[in-house]
Amino acid sequence: MNLTMFQMSRIMLSAVELEFFPLLNEPQSSADVAKALDLDPGATLRLLNAITSMGVLQLSDGKYVVPEEFREILGDGPGSVLPMFRHRARLWKVWSSLTDSVRTGKTHYALNDPEFDQWDGMAEFTRAMAVSGWKIAGEAVAELDLDGVTRVLDIGGGPGIYAIEFCRARPDLRVCILDNEGVQEVASEFINDAGYQEKIYFYSGDALEVDIDDVIGKGKFDIVFMSNLIHAMSEDSIHELYRRCAEWCTPGGRIVVKDFFLDDTRTEPQRAAVFAINMLVATTGGNSYTWTETEDWLNELTDSSDKNKVTGLSRKLLSDGYSGMVIAEVK
Ligand SMILES: C[S@@+](CC[C@H](N)C(=O)[O-])C[C@H]1O[C@@H](n2cnc3c(N)ncnc32)[C@H](O)[C@@H]1O
Repeated sequence: MNLTMFQMSRIMLSAVELEFFPLLNEPQSSADVAKALDLDPGATLRLLNAITSMGVLQLSDGKYVVPEEFREILGDGPGSVLPMFRHRARLWKVWSSLTDSVRTGKTHYALNDPEFDQWDGMAEFTRAMAVSGWKIAGEAVAELDLDGVTRVLDIGGGPGIYAIEFCRARPDLRVCILDNEGVQEVASEFINDAGYQEKIYFYSGDALEVDIDDVIGKGKFDIVFMSNLIHAMSEDSIHELYRRCAEWCTPGGRIVVKDFFLDDTRTEPQRAAVFAINMLVATTGGNSYTWTETEDWLNELTDSSDKNKVTGLSRKLLSDGYSGMVIAEVK
């Protein structure tokens, strides 16, 4: 294990925080960068040299530039990873509280930033979700049988990438995204770019509090879907969420829970076990959950005569090796 890896991460995160990118998509001398960004010239030179040593910049004729192959991802166009890198830079501060979080069980925000407003950075966070999610979103939707599906509810749909993939897979489909106030504006950018503003609509509100009947609106949903939502919730909230999902789901429909699932030892896969720490420092009650407990909690859903509502359960592991879906058939 190389415990100095954090130094490389810190170098890149500072370059991102200081807005080196996309400035360095054009060749710049160290003095130019220091002047443009109002930085210490000697410190700027060292940081540029360190980034160059890592292969993220090239140095030629005294000027630094992002290599051709990284210009799109370090630019400011739709292929940019910078929203995700900015999100990671914020997480650096949150993770710095880990030792105290383990001592006290409290989040970084409870310990060090009680005035933190969750809406600060929400737009950036929503864009970051789109950067990281497209490939798996397409793969996840392709794994679902969409025959006869016309209405999908995407709870916590964020930037709308799953909703867009549902529409790409079946153009006759309509998707309702149910997400918190404030997310719709960013989601609309992605949805409009994809040309699906007529097929994807928004219901703004907290899924745990909105009026169940209001969301149903024109009818129940063939698929009630959620991606990367339950990991930010406590077990009690998930029980309430699933209860609501069963109300929103049409008889014979499916509840699909996509997340980073752990095995029963809670130590594998590694990325899900490490993600549990992300939830420890950043959320009240969030966690990485196991496949088994996700299935067990869905299986606890009952109808008004106390009969089991879920008639079948299946699992699908996705190609990154740590994302997966639990699919529950609802009677
Ligand atoms: C990690 S993002 C995932 C976004 C998207 N589903 C994806 O996988 O790319 C979680 C999303 O869930 C939303 N969310 C969290 N708690 C929620 C709640 N109680 N009700 C509605 N949306 C919620 C957040 O606003 C955010 O957009």
